[in-house]
Amino acid sequence: MIDKLLEAKRVVCLTGAGISAESDIPTFRGEDGMWKNHSPEELATPGAFVRDPALVWEFYNWRREIIAKAKPNPGHLALAEMEKIFDDFYIITQNVDGLHQKAGSEKVIELHGDIWYVRCTEDCSQETKLFPLYEIPLKEIPPHCPKCNALLRPHVVWFGETIPTPPLDAALELSANNDFFMVIGTSAMVQPAASLPRYAIRSKIYTVEINPEKTALTEIVDECILGKAGSALPLLLEEIKKYL
Ligand code: OAD
Repeated sequence: MIDKLLEAKRVVCLTGAGISAESDIPTFRGEDGMWKNHSPEELATPGAFVRDPALVWEFYNWRREIIAKAKPNPGHLALAEMEKIFDDFYIITQNVDGLHQKAGSEKVIELHGDIWYVRCTEDCSQETKLFPLYEIPLKEIPPHCPKCNALLRPHVVWFGETIPTPPLDAALELSANNDFFMVIGTSAMVQPAASLPRYAIRSKIYTVEINPEKTALTEIVDECILGKAGSALPLLLEEIKKYL
């Protein structure tokens, strides 16, 4: 595997909630993924927001409080260091926590948005299309637009919504055009992200999965490292450095 990685001109990583698990952010489908007996699939939807915006915002307020305290772990840091080593190194992430960027990664494509940004549901002006809201905890739940007083919503992609074209197009292009594809800490159950490793496999790209549990991808990738990202990635980085 290491020979394939060292030869690679372009390396692409797809990350999911598992890479932030060792930063104490609960994964979605893990044991601690439930919030007050609600699964993310029940809350992270446009329908849930229409029915009960306060409940949906309480859920996001809870996740924002956890994320605000979280620091990048050795897995995030190892990927940030790898970006400096390879000519072309990209992360496509399903996470909205910003920890890759906090770790120092610059080429990050956020498929599902950014939990620190919000937008007006009425799209009332250019300024409220997308703006940061770092308040922790939120003073008002649900929060309202400073311009028109309509509801604000988190700038994240909910179940049933489509991923905006720019990050999706970039992710599709990168997944089919690289020399080494790593899929790290995702259950590979949510589309379209779950299909990206399959595009890489179909394009005959060398694929590696890092996950302590088996997934639907385990049998079809070239290699699976059955372990935690926070230990597997620093080990991989050490291995790379031996050849520099
Ligand atoms: P999941 O919660 O579905 O899966 C997390 C994966 O991380 C599982 O396969 C775990 O085995 C693995 N894992 C746990 N600890 C790990 C560790 N220390 N190192 C490596 N892997 C570990 O999260 P995602 O696959 O990211 O979407 O979920 C995809 C999307 O579904 C999310 O982005 C979110 C969610 O609901 C939206 O909110 C739209």
